[in-house]
Amino acid sequence: MSASLPAPGTALKALDAIPDPGGAPADYAETPILIVRSGETVRAFINVCPHQGRPLCLPSGRTLVSEGRYLVCPFHGASFEIGTGACVGGPAGKSALKPVPVRVENGQVTAA
Ligand code: FES
Repeated sequence: MSASLPAPGTALKALDAIPDPGGAPADYAETPILIVRSGETVRAFINVCPHQGRPLCLPSGRTLVSEGRYLVCPFHGASFEIGTGACVGGPAGKSALKPVPVRVENGQVTAA
């Protein structure tokens, strides 16, 4: 079963609503998506950690970003490169996050 991705152009989150560096869940109910931001870099991933399938953010939506480059799963500390989603440390092995294509237009993150 594959996750249903938002159609291109779907508004996912106001850029201002995403901490920099940090992240926030997308405003998209059908599939859990986490948007991560560090400076000019804005990426989105299916919000499921490949280690044990938990969300990549805290229940509050707070998202841990280390050194402005790594998304850190709050549960057991797996680290993923924001730019690529590749796992670079922790218990998730050589896995990678599932990317969701996005772009930023007029202060809005939308599906690409
Ligand atoms: S569920 Fe993410 S590191 Fe374990």
